[in-house]
Amino acid sequence: MKVEVKRLAELTTLGVGGEAEVWTVETPADLLEATSAPYRVLGNGSNLLVSDRGVDERVIKLGGVFANASLGEPHSSEHVTPWLGAGALLPNLVQEARRLGLSGLEPLLGIPASLGGAVRMNAGTRFGEIGDVLEAVEIFHDGALHVYHPDQLGLGYRQSRLPVGGIVTRVRLRLHKSDPATIEARMQAVDAARKSQPKRRSAGCAFKNPPGDSAGRLIDEAGLKGLRVGGAVISREHGNFVVNTGRASAADVWKLVKRIQEELPLELEWEIWGELP
Ligand code: FAD
Ligand code: EPU
Repeated sequence: MKVEVKRLAELTTLGVGGEAEVWTVETPADLLEATSAPYRVLGNGSNLLVSDRGVDERVIKLGGVFANASLGEPHSSEHVTPWLGAGALLPNLVQEARRLGLSGLEPLLGIPASLGGAVRMNAGTRFGEIGDVLEAVEIFHDGALHVYHPDQLGLGYRQSRLPVGGIVTRVRLRLHKSDPATIEARMQAVDAARKSQPKRRSAGCAFKNPPGDSAGRLIDEAGLKGLRVGGAVISREHGNFVVNTGRASAADVWKLVKRIQEELPLELEWEIWGELP
């Protein structure tokens, strides 16, 4: 196990956030030791706004056996249900599935999540969510590993109800063999739907969509696109993205969030870590 003090700006896609003690766990024994004091779990840091002061709790990151994942080959049966380490990155699995002609992950193309973080957020697009292809989820809590059926996890639009303090350690997906041309066509449709999203550093959509509407469209209509505080800007490409143009602080980003919420009653999709001004 590795324990180091790190700036969380380096471990998050938005690129803001102060220091924390990062515990990279590699074995079940590491998990027991790392969870012996207050902790948070970090996936790929792609849905987080972390305070400039960092966080006091240990930050647990999955490495070693918890980050191993391969869809394997060759596949003789129609259905493939691999157990995968929750620290593995979803984009790698999406590309592996594409190569192997395995269908199920196409809706998740372009989401820079770890598998565990994707389950925690029930990550998805309008084409589908990870919950649609979950067979089982292994979760560490209360000192032991437990296996859950996805129906037990309260999965909904960008939400879940995991056991308190639960760390997703392995995920069993349900994929099926398919014609590569069909997979490719599905991926292209998802890719096309993401074309308006900015390429600069962000944490994805800041707010959940209100039922039947789009937060990005509402922010656009309110004339807030292009608004800047320090190094943070409400993207001109897509109103629901706050981007870091290089030197943004968490405080800059938070001011923009508050400014948007003064105009619109939107619920944050991001998770907030630590104290914000
Ligand atoms: P983190 O951001 O690291 O953590 C998020 C939450 O999950 C935290 O509460 C954390 O404690 C918890 N968590 C992480 N790992 C575990 C674990 N192993 N066990 C228990 N809890 C855990 N999201 C979508 O749904 N759809 C999209 O189309 C989409 N597009 C995006 C595009 C961009 C460019 C970016 C930057 C983000 C996008 N997102 C999207 C947001 C983000 O990728 C998802 O919310 C994703 O599920 C977060 O996963 P993560 O591993 O990065 O989690
Ligand atoms: N729109 C505007 N102006 C904008 C942004 C959007 O008018 O600045 C309009 C679009 O023209 C479109 C509608 O709003 O008519 C919806 O926009 P879009 O198709 O971009 O989808 P979205 O609802 O904004 C959702 C998810 C994304 C996901 C895409 C693709 C949420 C909060 N967002 O965006 O997920 O990638 O669909 O399916 O559910 C995320 O959750 O982090 C995320 C990026």
